[in-house]
Amino acid sequence: MVSARVIKAVIPAAGLGTRFLPATKASPKEMLPLVDKPIIQYVVEEAVAAGIREIIIITGRGKRAIEDHFDVSFELEENLRENGKKVLLKEIQAIADLADFCYVRQRHARGLGHAILCARHLIGDEPFAVLLGDDILDAKAPAIRQMMEIYRRFGGPVVGVQAVPRSEVHQYGIIKAEPMEPDLYRITDLVEKPSPQKAPSNLAVIGRYILTPEIFEALEETTPGKNQEIQLTDALRILARKQSMYGKRVEGVRYDAGDKLGFLKATVEFGLKRPDLGESFRRYLKGLAL
Ligand code: G1P
Repeated sequence: MVSARVIKAVIPAAGLGTRFLPATKASPKEMLPLVDKPIIQYVVEEAVAAGIREIIIITGRGKRAIEDHFDVSFELEENLRENGKKVLLKEIQAIADLADFCYVRQRHARGLGHAILCARHLIGDEPFAVLLGDDILDAKAPAIRQMMEIYRRFGGPVVGVQAVPRSEVHQYGIIKAEPMEPDLYRITDLVEKPSPQKAPSNLAVIGRYILTPEIFEALEETTPGKNQEIQLTDALRILARKQSMYGKRVEGVRYDAGDKLGFLKATVEFGLKRPDLGESFRRYLKGLAL
């Protein structure tokens, strides 16, 4: 029997970031800052706020800055200490203490499904969360925690979804589902990036998943799909035929931070919310001749 507690999260961060070139030529897209914090730190903080303590990050070539970010920075800390910058020092030290971090390198860009498979030996026989770094969810209750509650009740894989306009379904995994209760669905099928005509609904997968170890066998069976990559959506599709799977409509505002426009929107919204910057930023925006 698989445990009821989710304490591990996998954060795939091996992608090439082609949607964000040239910024991502030599720097990981996960390290792009929203105001002053790298995108991946928001994602880690969401997992930690949901009670997750072990974070497995799937990296690749050119991604070392991520490991350095979640490590101690001896020289920097010494410098801040000497200069009496206590608040900043505390903030910097807290990043390395957020969780226990573990890194696996995905040697070939073979897709999201393959990236998850790279964590198999670290997961073992436990349920685990997957959080994609492109999706930033600004929510009162951490998005992944909303989904963990469903997992606790029903014990099967949970996929986070939100409704999107039909014109955008081709950018997402889309679920076919039957309503169970408000904001909860039983998933019968999934399609990766369908055309509007072929989409079984407008409920899009938003980069948050609670998975059970059976996903690894399904991933082994999965042949390359869209873009010749091993798609997580295709493995979920195999599983949905064999066991109960749930779609949880997640409350919160989602930003696609891996997309230039989505990133700009998130930057503006997060900037406006900042106690130290919000007011002057608002004044500046209001003064623009739009
Ligand atoms: C991935 C998944 C897709 C999901 C999306 C959410 O696609 O394959 O099913 O809807 O993340 O952001 P990607 O955006 O990596 O192409």
